[in-house]
Amino acid sequence: MKNIVILGSTGSIGRQALDVARRYPDKIRVIGLAAGSNWSLMVEQIGEFKPRVVALAREEAARELARHLPPGERPEIFCGSGGLLALVNSIDDGMVLNALTGTAGLRPTMAALEKGLDVALANKETLVAAGELVMKLARNRGARILPVDSEHSAIWQCLAGQSLKKVEKIILTASGGPFRIGPPDLSRVTVSEALAHPNWKMGKKITIDSATLMNKGLEVMEAHWLFDMDYDRIEVVIHPQSIIHSMVEFVDGSVIAQMGLPDMRLPIQYALSYPDRWPGELPRVNWFAVGELTFEPPDTGRFPCLTLAYSAGRAGGTMPAVLNAANEVAVEAFLSGEIPFTGIYRVVAGVMDEHTVISRPTLEEILAADQWARRVAREKIRR
Ligand SMILES: NC(=O)c1ccc[n+]([C@@H]2O[C@H](COP(=O)([O-])OP(=O)(O)OC[C@H]3O[C@@H](n4cnc5c(N)ncnc54)[C@H](OP(=O)(O)O)[C@@H]3O)[C@@H](O)[C@H]2O)c1
Repeated sequence: MKNIVILGSTGSIGRQALDVARRYPDKIRVIGLAAGSNWSLMVEQIGEFKPRVVALAREEAARELARHLPPGERPEIFCGSGGLLALVNSIDDGMVLNALTGTAGLRPTMAALEKGLDVALANKETLVAAGELVMKLARNRGARILPVDSEHSAIWQCLAGQSLKKVEKIILTASGGPFRIGPPDLSRVTVSEALAHPNWKMGKKITIDSATLMNKGLEVMEAHWLFDMDYDRIEVVIHPQSIIHSMVEFVDGSVIAQMGLPDMRLPIQYALSYPDRWPGELPRVNWFAVGELTFEPPDTGRFPCLTLAYSAGRAGGTMPAVLNAANEVAVEAFLSGEIPFTGIYRVVAGVMDEHTVISRPTLEEILAADQWARRVAREKIRR
């Protein structure tokens, strides 16, 4: 029986993780749940999974939650900005699945690792903003970071039993998003067009990041830290069918790919079952229905955010945190109709241009750079 704490339980990954837990009641015990404000869904989740502790970041939502729970069924409730950390700090015996969105995931990841807890990591922003500190902390505390992102789960599976020294390069696949083929003028695309991802159903932030290819850039940085790989040895390939989730090329030219249907429950489950694999009923690939697997290079002229992410990764220090924070603000501004789709790149590039990199930053310096980037991004959007 594995004890699991799910941070971001009301989101896309969090709800799918609970679906995995629902399918394996003899293997997974949900002991903690945390989210931002969605108290009504949290009430249902508590009724079904009976966790010991829960947290909601918004105090008002936590009050509503407490009001709507039958007195006999009330877990310990943490709330407010420190609530997530208090929840993680109250756990001694479990794995933390971090499915929060954005930089909000960084401190809880570090708190879990600090306690020596394994972290199943969907929140890629943790590694983008502070990869060096996070990986070092995990090593020092003997805690594992188990990738949940489908691409990184794929690479992890391709590397099973292999030596990292024998890897020539990592090949990250990308669907190409809703605008891979058209329209020619991306400045006029609407929010609902950008949210219509062809293959994956995800939260809004990552869906927009997939449309700009910024998501793939964040994943390049995530792979850099998880697999200790130079940026020159991480290649992005557009693969519109999303059947190959990523590949590893070895020094002898042999390539191993991991495949499956685009269903996040599979990589979530693998992170929870590792090193085991649990038999299950998830849909299987029908090869004849798939028909063909195709590949093309990313069009960095149309999707310059991918190039920005490589350059932030190579610059290192505080630059990836700055890119990430500026991007979060710009995506929110696009979603609320303040800037056009192509404005996302302009905001992020503009903020990066103004940033003076601090190399080997402390956590405080990273968080300060994050706050600075958010402020500058907002000023640019206002102008
Ligand atoms: N969705 C996917 O298929 C997918 C695939 C690969 C990787 N990922 C990564 O997984 C992470 C989660 O993505 P998602 O699509 O699941 O996001 P999502 O649907 O937007 O869900 C985000 C979750 O985080 C909670 N949250 C947000 N800000 C918070 C805060 N300040 N404090 C506490 N809780 C907060 C939300 O709570 P409320 O809703 O209650 O406010 C919600 O439960 C992201 O890093 C994403 O890049 C997602």
